[in-house]
Amino acid sequence: MAETMPDGAAPSLFSPYKMGKFNLSHRVVLAPMTRCRAPNNIPNSALVEYYTQRATNGGFLITEGTMISPTAAGFPRVPGIFNKEQVQAWKKVVDSVHAKGAIIFCQLWHVGRASHQALQPSGTAPVSSTDKPISKRWRVLMPDGSYAIYPKPRKLDTYGVPELAEHYRLAAINAIEAGFDGVEIHGAHGYLIDQFLKDGINERTDEYGGSLHNRCKFIMQVVQAVVSAVGAERVSVRISPAIDHLDAMDTDPLKLGLAVIERLNKLQTDCGSKLAYLHVTQPRYTAYGQTESGSHGSPDEEALFMRTWRRAYQGTFICSGGFTRQLGIEAVADGDTDLVAYGRLFISNPDLVLRLKLNAPLNKYKRATFYTSDPVVGYTDYPFLENDTEKTVPLSRL
Ligand SMILES: Cc1cc2nc3c(=O)[nH]c(=O)nc-3n(C[C@H](O)[C@H](O)[C@H](O)COP(=O)(O)O)c2cc1C
Repeated sequence: MAETMPDGAAPSLFSPYKMGKFNLSHRVVLAPMTRCRAPNNIPNSALVEYYTQRATNGGFLITEGTMISPTAAGFPRVPGIFNKEQVQAWKKVVDSVHAKGAIIFCQLWHVGRASHQALQPSGTAPVSSTDKPISKRWRVLMPDGSYAIYPKPRKLDTYGVPELAEHYRLAAINAIEAGFDGVEIHGAHGYLIDQFLKDGINERTDEYGGSLHNRCKFIMQVVQAVVSAVGAERVSVRISPAIDHLDAMDTDPLKLGLAVIERLNKLQTDCGSKLAYLHVTQPRYTAYGQTESGSHGSPDEEALFMRTWRRAYQGTFICSGGFTRQLGIEAVADGDTDLVAYGRLFISNPDLVLRLKLNAPLNKYKRATFYTSDPVVGYTDYPFLENDTEKTVPLSRL
């Protein structure tokens, strides 16, 4: 499985990679991360600064989850990509990132039932595949900074589902208009698409529920709609079959992942073009990401899942979740992934790529400011390395 570089050397976290039509200079990716810094759902200069800080020449960034429609938000102050004002505002982010030579994809997001009336445009219940609320184990962040339990959602009727796929399509068109190089369809972490995929949530008896085939129907409608609008090479998908975030449990995650992958492979064959990539979140993220303690499943089981999916998918594979420098280096060298997306370490280290290359010390992230509103504190004020060579020496020369 391991790819060989043109000079015969094994691939490394810091070696170039050709992702479809995009030439990347290294394999350290900014993972999509909600940061709640976009008042009124419009990206502002703080976002321009944040993404530009994390851009490198030939680097690859994925934006935070971005609302595909007014009903899509599950956190306060998340950016949207469903109206003209948002498109214009994103252009400034994209242009600035491009000026540093990086590639940037917009993550298309609808949270489904992981929302609250207070986050909905007309104060109505959020929509979902189900009318079952998320359990009280989880809390939703409210606009005033407090936390509330998730409300009972409104179950979409069969005829209402394709309209949601249409919203993804329109959002993808907007993203390309804003200058994004592509889009990532967020099918992971217990949000809308995952609410259709997982049998622990989806109890539908219509064509969108029951069999694996039916549960995969919505994600494939979305992918097909988006591909038809912007072309496969600009489209990617994120899934997390083995993660139970927001109660998104499945009785057979391995098979579910393979079912999605099989359909993505077929879509690629049918349209004669590859998607940009498949992004899979490591199960260990739930343990590390939420609590930083304990383990989730056995490491052997995790590795088996990830390797099976990686082998089955016919295209570029990105993984994310609990990667250290060493784990990232090993994963690429062993052929377990093509690219590694880093989340929390990228929050606190705007120059993460350089630090990983130099094996320099890393700033610690502050969880308390992950979702706060200050445009600087905990957002753009994490320090760069002293005498940051990135400002003067191109990374490719290190
Ligand atoms: C503050 C925060 C916000 C996140 N928001 C998103 C998001 O909007 N979309 C998404 O797909 N994943 C989101 N994630 C998950 C990250 O993309 C990533 O998979 C996760 O942090 C694990 O990687 P890490 O261990 O390197 O942090 C978020 C994670 C964090 C910590």
